[in-house]
Amino acid sequence: MKVLVTGDRGYIGSVLVRKLVKEGHNVIGLDTGFFENNLLPGDSIPSYKKITKDIRHVSLSDLRGVDAIIHLSALSNDPMGEIDPKLTEEINHKASIRLAKLAKKAGVKKFIFSSSASVYGIAENGIVDEKSRVNPLTAYARSKIKTEQALKKLAASDFFVGLLRNSTVYGFSPRFRNDLVVNNLVTTALAYGQIRIMSDGTPWRPLIDVRDLTDIFIEFLKTKDISLNGEIVNIGFNENNFQVRDLVDVIKKELPFCSAVYTGEHGADSRSYRVKFGFFKKHFPNVRQKWPLSKSVKDMIYALKKSKFSKKDFEEGRYTRLAVLRRLQKNNRIDKNLFRTT
Ligand SMILES: NC(=O)c1ccc[n+]([C@@H]2O[C@H](COP(=O)([O-])OP(=O)(O)OC[C@H]3O[C@@H](n4cnc5c(N)ncnc54)[C@H](O)[C@@H]3O)[C@@H](O)[C@H]2O)c1
Repeated sequence: MKVLVTGDRGYIGSVLVRKLVKEGHNVIGLDTGFFENNLLPGDSIPSYKKITKDIRHVSLSDLRGVDAIIHLSALSNDPMGEIDPKLTEEINHKASIRLAKLAKKAGVKKFIFSSSASVYGIAENGIVDEKSRVNPLTAYARSKIKTEQALKKLAASDFFVGLLRNSTVYGFSPRFRNDLVVNNLVTTALAYGQIRIMSDGTPWRPLIDVRDLTDIFIEFLKTKDISLNGEIVNIGFNENNFQVRDLVDVIKKELPFCSAVYTGEHGADSRSYRVKFGFFKKHFPNVRQKWPLSKSVKDMIYALKKSKFSKKDFEEGRYTRLAVLRRLQKNNRIDKNLFRTT
């Protein structure tokens, strides 16, 4: 299949393209390249065709002959969305709908969208499923809901729309991020010998390893289950809803000399939600979790130590999206609207 992956040079995209190339797909990546140079030392990505372009400038000619699109590019995560909510709307919502409409026009058959369980915000009734009321707390979450709704309307018999409401991701990727809860706690432990929890530890989060999630994207690429066309699907595993404080025990098992420090500063992020994944399980009964939290944490610590992840990396925000973008802006590599200057 000829598969276009937007955001191919991101945390999830870097793992996904490796698998797609390995499976023999003809892969094209389209990314503005914010994190192009944030590869962990010693790691590499197989070669495939890359278009370096802002998603807001994608054209019909970029999509000719493409069979399927996996759309990952976005200002990804809640804090990033707060840089400028207008840009989040432009990039995450408007550009996504424009891309999908162009894709339909170009004869692309499948469009798979990476939404987020962040849309549940504070889940008042404890545990939520696809039919529960959404409660977005950030510009990021609002952009995902609006995009899901608009994409749903584009679904047609010749245009399959996959709407994946993904759990928060953890695990090692060649383009590592430490602004995701598990990865963040592991890196504070490596940098300071302290697992620094910014909440009181009670918020709930559904979690999934980046390798399990990328396998699921590929399941959607292959599925012939047309009943999922235009349907929102929560992506994750029932056993992977954790309270943040549970993560401490898992990390301490690997790094027993670390202490746990609860800073209690919820900040802008007061999200807490537990999610049901029965609908996903019903449609993909053979998909099993391969990277449970404990296995992934062990692997992540090994990989970070091997690539000499340092306290300096942590403090300079080398793997923190917001810090990377601010640095690019400061060095005039991107302008105030996040367009590349060169
Ligand atoms: N990481 C998670 O926990 C998680 C959870 C749920 C959903 N998602 C969604 O999955 C997708 C991928 O997430 P990720 O963690 O890999 O994010 P990421 O920030 O690591 O990667 C996003 C990629 O998109 C690119 N990009 C951003 N703006 C762009 C633009 N205007 N034009 C072209 N490219 C642009 C960036 O350069 C980057 O390479 C996002 O849509 C995100 O919202 C992520």
